Amino acid sequence: MSTTELTIVRPDDWHLHLRDGPQLASVVRFTAQRFGRAIIMPNLNPPITTTPQALAYKARILAALPAATAFEPLMTLYLTDNTTPEIIADAVASEAVYGVKLYPAGATTNSDSGVTNLALCAPALETMAELGLPLLVHGEVVDDAVDIFDREQVFVETVLAPLLQRYPDLRVVLEHITTRQAVEFVRAAGDNVAATITPQHLMFNRNALLAGGLRPHNYCLPVLKAERHRQAVVEAATDDHPRFFLGTDSAPHAVSAKENACGCAGIFSAHAGIELYAEAFAAVGRLSRLEAFASLRGADFYKLARNTETITLEREDWRVPDALDFGAELLVPFRAGETMHWRLRRETGSG
Ligand code: NCD
Ligand code: ZN
Repeated sequence: MSTTELTIVRPDDWHLHLRDGPQLASVVRFTAQRFGRAIIMPNLNPPITTTPQALAYKARILAALPAATAFEPLMTLYLTDNTTPEIIADAVASEAVYGVKLYPAGATTNSDSGVTNLALCAPALETMAELGLPLLVHGEVVDDAVDIFDREQVFVETVLAPLLQRYPDLRVVLEHITTRQAVEFVRAAGDNVAATITPQHLMFNRNALLAGGLRPHNYCLPVLKAERHRQAVVEAATDDHPRFFLGTDSAPHAVSAKENACGCAGIFSAHAGIELYAEAFAAVGRLSRLEAFASLRGADFYKLARNTETITLEREDWRVPDALDFGAELLVPFRAGETMHWRLRRETGSG
């Protein structure tokens, strides 16, 4: 008998892009309907680099939601060459900032202010290790000499491993992992190292991007990888390991920016932010592991209380819309026009 209904502790999204202004207003409700909390990426233009900026952004996020919504944005700062120990201490004292994001300069969308040389960040990293503030890592090198499909593996070997040798106590989340090498690194690392996993890297290999036509809406960074890597990532998400957990990396871009001669990296998945994972876990017969991955392990790693509410998913077909509003423009959601088999039960009443 196959499961037709699944109730789990309300999940959290440990890696999310919400943008700002009218775009924020268009997308934030999708996340708040599903998740209790989300780690909010700071790669606005210009980026969020200080606690006052993070607090102002948090207020804008909450203002974009209906009044009674119980959703907590967990803010982050963007690490730059100029992040000081004082900035780190302020972040910790705020109890609103839960991590600092490392984007190697030029690695991805809005990463121009990213770190050019990690050595310049030594004072900030020392303070983070001391105070226990996690470093959230976009783990790709930006070296033109390194093939785009190898950039995560090379980052793990040449940047992350030495970083953790230098700061053995630094708490690190390797975001949106895509390779067998990243999985193996996290498994072998200490309790201070974890990883997030997106729905697209569980569901698709690079054929979904490149075979039978170029599909810009399946383009994100790190780019989709070969099938053997996808399998390693699925295995990591669906086994009992405590340090792999949910991070959608939902990253909305207007259609015009995606369907473009130089299309932006980023896949919007918040419209089905938990349903997609249910499909991926059901596909390997591991639905029973979804709750630990989506709702428990991330809170434990971030040393936050687990959520107490629940959500219910039902096995029922629905069609993903072809497009959704995105400020004055439209966006194309992940798996647009396709049929999904798990649906979120909409609660009536409060919340
Ligand atoms: C993200 C974005 O659009 O902000 N894009 C993406 O492909 N994941 C940036 C990022 O997380 O790399
Ligand atoms: Zn991201």
